[in-house]
Amino acid sequence: QEDKFKSVISHAKEYGYVFQSSEIYDGLSAVYDYAQNGVELKKNIREYWWKAMVQMNENIVGLDSAIFMHPTTWKASGHVDAFSDPLIDNKDSKKRYRADVLIEDYVGKLDTKIEKEVKKAAKRFGDSFDKAQFLETNPRVLGYKEKGNAILKRMGQSLEKEDLADVKALIEELAIACPLSGSKNWTDVKQFNLMFGTKLGASAESAMDLYLRPETAQGIFVNFLNVQKTGRMKIPFGIAQTGKAFRNEIVARQFIFRMREFEQMEMQFFIKPGTQQEWYKHWKDARLKWHLSLGMGEDNYRFHDHEKLAHYADAAADIEFRFPFGFKELEGIHSRTDFDLKAHEKHSGKKLQFFDHEENKSYVPYVLETSIGLDRMFLAVFSNSLQEEELENGTTRTVLKLPSVLAPTKAAILPLVKKDGLPEVARKIVEDLKWDFAVSYDEKDAVGRRYRRQDANGTPFCITVDHDTLEDNSVTIRHRDTMEQKRVPISELKSIIEEEVSM
Ligand code: GAP
Repeated sequence: QEDKFKSVISHAKEYGYVFQSSEIYDGLSAVYDYAQNGVELKKNIREYWWKAMVQMNENIVGLDSAIFMHPTTWKASGHVDAFSDPLIDNKDSKKRYRADVLIEDYVGKLDTKIEKEVKKAAKRFGDSFDKAQFLETNPRVLGYKEKGNAILKRMGQSLEKEDLADVKALIEELAIACPLSGSKNWTDVKQFNLMFGTKLGASAESAMDLYLRPETAQGIFVNFLNVQKTGRMKIPFGIAQTGKAFRNEIVARQFIFRMREFEQMEMQFFIKPGTQQEWYKHWKDARLKWHLSLGMGEDNYRFHDHEKLAHYADAAADIEFRFPFGFKELEGIHSRTDFDLKAHEKHSGKKLQFFDHEENKSYVPYVLETSIGLDRMFLAVFSNSLQEEELENGTTRTVLKLPSVLAPTKAAILPLVKKDGLPEVARKIVEDLKWDFAVSYDEKDAVGRRYRRQDANGTPFCITVDHDTLEDNSVTIRHRDTMEQKRVPISELKSIIEEEVSM
């Protein structure tokens, strides 16, 4: 699995998806740049989300609020006081860790052990193997699960009570984290605020301390009434936005999984108090459906209902995805009550209420939030799509089986040879298709090598122009996943591609 993750990172670089930021200066940790293909994939994921959330829902509208916000925002939201991570240093290695991540990593190792048991049993029992039953009844699996749950529960309770000494004790008991396995030489656990500070204004006296926003959500809360009034929105309604957020993350690893500068796609859904359970369920279902619609395999998702709740929530769940390093949070669904709007009312002195004509009264709405990291979604899609396939002739191919709607390039047009008028015909097809799809032209190398290049790049279709094309206006269209080739008239290309790639 570690190897798989390494190949994901190197493939992302080799094929122009993700580069280390400021690479010529040896990079900046946990900061990344999206390259020529990555920027397209990222844009397509954003659009896929936007379409599902805003375009398809009459009662959800968009917003693009500023990254800089009045500093009181973060006092009101609780981020100044409570947006911190528990940190611990290892005195031997002088390395700093997030205490909760160390513990979760350890529990993740138990998950890996469970997977090994499953594999072993599947081999032993063959066709008669019932995985669900095995997971529910095998004593060894149950033992690992129980241990993992007990550890997470104790961690959750200790963090909630701010009992940092117990968090440290837990780490020592688990003797966590290879290569420090067994190390007992830890400092105490300390809380560290994750917001980045900056200054607004030229002179030292008048400059104002600001934060770079650690989430996009607060820009939605402070605009709640502006949008409601000018859009004449009625509860329930939602506001969606995508944009950058910044966190001074301590654990800077796992590529674009946890970054210091990243993009969120968030939606705040404003509802009548008392209806939060129903909407919580609605949005959990709706968001999982959105993920499943991409066809990346039901088995790769699971819900994790939180026992430990953030300061603003009365219920919360994550949609977890099977990343190359195990199941991890991809998206959060949070029932945020009226915590944020009430806090902004208190700090701003402005009323943030909705007048409900049916009830003939004003109230502060409750909020249901869906929040997903765009970069994390990128990693989910990219890592899940990257596959090494054994072919019938004994060779292997690297193929990036991106969901076609998200692929940066939908079709590559390839003249079989660089002469006899074939490039001209291929160029003409590019000129026609580019109004509707992102397409590319490739004439370099033998056609087999070009197919492989496009496979590795994630392009769903290759369209080859050959000598017969000059006679009958038909081309060969090859599909990335099946490698099947079909002869079709040029005039049908648009509808064939459209059927597969339209959102
Ligand atoms: N407004 C709620 C909120 O921000 P969160 O659980 O802190 O909740 C939501 O973040 C999502 O943002 C996460 O599920 C994750 O996908 C993404 N995310 C959070 N921190 C991230 C980071 N450092 N790098 C990349 N994505 C991150």
